[in-house]
Amino acid sequence: MTSDAEAKDVAKETTPYDMIGGEAVVRRIVERFYDVMDSAPEAAGIRAMHAADLGPMRQTLFEFLSGWLGGPRSYAKCIMSAHRPFAIGDAERDAWMLCMRQALTDSGVTGELYDLLDGAFLRMASAFRNR
Ligand code: HEM
Repeated sequence: MTSDAEAKDVAKETTPYDMIGGEAVVRRIVERFYDVMDSAPEAAGIRAMHAADLGPMRQTLFEFLSGWLGGPRSYAKCIMSAHRPFAIGDAERDAWMLCMRQALTDSGVTGELYDLLDGAFLRMASAFRNR
């Protein structure tokens, strides 16, 4: 029989946040994501929509992703509303996904976990389209 404490441990260990490798890997993904956005020619259009200094965004995206993946929560805004001021269509969605796919791969996320995250990011990024 499984005790409550053991059951809680299992639930805790199976969040996507833990499966990814916790804070260190989420940070790595975010760093890589903005480095790719800052350098990939395919991302030049969406890079220009972001502030010149990506430093604050690295922290904001980290906080959002931590909570979204089932880890510590500190991002409290509506992510959908935050994107309304920007013109986002298929091209912008695809450029964002290119950066995230590269960031996941470069951070060692593979196999089923990659597929799970890729699908979830694609659904969210598609929902942000407003034109
Ligand atoms: C799954 C998809 C996405 C996630 C998780 C995400 C995440 C975020 C977060 C957490 C912020 C900070 C919002 C705030 O101020 O609180 C943000 C801002 C922003 N996002 Fe996204 N985003 C996604 C898709 C996109 C797409 C497709 C675009 C296309 C252009 C985009 C463009 C922007 C821009 C321009 C900002 C403002 C940046 C700045 O102020 O410098 N995002 N995003």
